[in-house]
Amino acid sequence: MTQLQTATSLYGPVSEDMVLVEDLLESAKQVDLAPLRRMLDHALAARGKRMRPALVLLAGHFGDYNLNKLVPLGTAIELLHTASLVHDDVVDGADSRRGRATTNNVFDNALTVLLGDYMFANAAEMVTRTGSLHVTRLFALALMKMTSGELDQDAAAFDVGKDIQNYLWRIGGKTAALFAVATEGGANLGGLPTNQVEALRTYGWSLGMAFQMVDDILDFTGDEALMGKPVGSDLREGTITLPGLLLLERYPQDNPIKKFFTAKRGREERLQEAIAMIRSTEVLDVSMDMARDYVRRGDEALQTLPDSETRRTLLELGEYVLTRKS
Ligand code: IPE
Ligand code: IPE
Ligand code: MG
Ligand code: MG
Repeated sequence: MTQLQTATSLYGPVSEDMVLVEDLLESAKQVDLAPLRRMLDHALAARGKRMRPALVLLAGHFGDYNLNKLVPLGTAIELLHTASLVHDDVVDGADSRRGRATTNNVFDNALTVLLGDYMFANAAEMVTRTGSLHVTRLFALALMKMTSGELDQDAAAFDVGKDIQNYLWRIGGKTAALFAVATEGGANLGGLPTNQVEALRTYGWSLGMAFQMVDDILDFTGDEALMGKPVGSDLREGTITLPGLLLLERYPQDNPIKKFFTAKRGREERLQEAIAMIRSTEVLDVSMDMARDYVRRGDEALQTLPDSETRRTLLELGEYVLTRKS
């Protein structure tokens, strides 16, 4: 499935309005300073799946569907997301993203960090266009959580003593917090009653948790061409995600991850052993079961919302997250 098909078939009643998000993103590239324009052009040239802005519009669609507020929030969140990827690729030293060379691959790291800063500020300016101090605050809190999650991931690198609880906290910060602000913010701008705002927040949070778990599974099983980014790199960089944590928990003796981390020689061989064991044991299935469980929790939260095409679209998004290949 191409990304365009993904958007049109998956985002149901809001898919046609997503073009307004594209237009506002396009306007973010229009700056006078040529070196900045070149970098923005590069970072924003390839489209992602646009899942977060779609969630903003879908959540708002349950209430007063005011696109003058929902589109700036959706665009701000997509800009924030893209900026966080620009920084993440510097941190990870990644060379491709969305099927193209990363910004850090084309420009140097220092300039790429500055570009990310500019995009964060641009996103913040855009969120103020909603006129909601509350949503602006949610947005800032999400960025604080994301940064904390990324910092924790770095601190936990090559540490076999961290547990699944720590992993859940980390992905809650680096990924689920932004999904949650998309649905909570959209619901808030839609003027929904508190219990429905809360339900949509829980749905977004749970979907984000599942989304990151699947991303971490795809790092072991995914196709690089479909994903448009490097796969097989988390463990190599010392990042132990859910499948690796389950392997450590269930096979503590002679564990190949421990051997890889402590090997003086033959590190590549040890790494390949660890990857092979993750692929051949039950840990990937158990990881997928956990992701499925988060999607189920999100679906349950949606029970408080009226049965509608919008709710069905959110339920289908949960299925998509569990089966996606890109
Ligand atoms: C990538 O997010 C970062 C993670 C949270 C795993 P997406 O997979 O939504 O990235 P794009 O926007 O579609 O490129
Ligand atoms: C998600 O983590 C990055 C952010 C939420 C900023 P990953 O490191 O797994 O993302 P990818 O795999 O590079 O897209
Ligand atoms: Mg990364
Ligand atoms: Mg990843």
